[in-house]
Amino acid sequence: MKGLINKGIEEMVLALQGEGVWEQVKRKAGIDEPFFAVSLDYPDKMTLDLVRVIAEELGLGERETMIAYGRWIVPHTMKERYPTFFKLAGASPRVFLRNMNKVHELVTRSVAKANPPRFEYEERQDGALLMRYRSERRLCGVLEGLIFGVGDVFDQELKVEIQSCMLDGASSCDMLVRFP
Ligand code: HEM
Repeated sequence: MKGLINKGIEEMVLALQGEGVWEQVKRKAGIDEPFFAVSLDYPDKMTLDLVRVIAEELGLGERETMIAYGRWIVPHTMKERYPTFFKLAGASPRVFLRNMNKVHELVTRSVAKANPPRFEYEERQDGALLMRYRSERRLCGVLEGLIFGVGDVFDQELKVEIQSCMLDGASSCDMLVRFP
């Protein structure tokens, strides 16, 4: 997984819990990297270990931690580091979410061994947007948080209904997004 993801975790823990907690999290997760380079590849396990330890430290569930993390990094780590992609991605949460294949393709185009997500979309008659996610990484908790984070960027409280989940054996995670 690209270092951007671990960098986001680091920035969130530093911002919300401080340096001491971050050092402890790294120690418990067995990570001795001095820093994460955003475009370098790190083992996916490292990200999952970080999530597990943060969940333990904060007394949260792993899913809750993934949602909190996804939600935090959109208006912080991603917006600060990729302002151009934010402009390109659109002026409403719906357009932004629909542009995520294009954004990920552009962000990872010049990055070796990238494995960006590719979503399928369905527009529902009642105005909801279905996002379908398939990935061996099964980061659906993070995806759910990222969707909320996109809402936060536009000051909108989005609703997410999980219609199917790979963690329950389904072939994809289908998230129905409702806009206010
Ligand atoms: C402009 C903002 C964003 C940037 C720059 C960005 C960039 C990235 C990068 C570099 C990765 C790692 C790819 C790899 O390891 O090869 C990634 C993964 C991912 N991103 Fe984003 N992202 C952004 C916003 C979002 C948003 C808003 C969503 C969803 C609503 C999203 C969903 C995901 C998911 C689900 C993964 C994990 C993919 C997997 O399972 O393999 N991203 N993103």
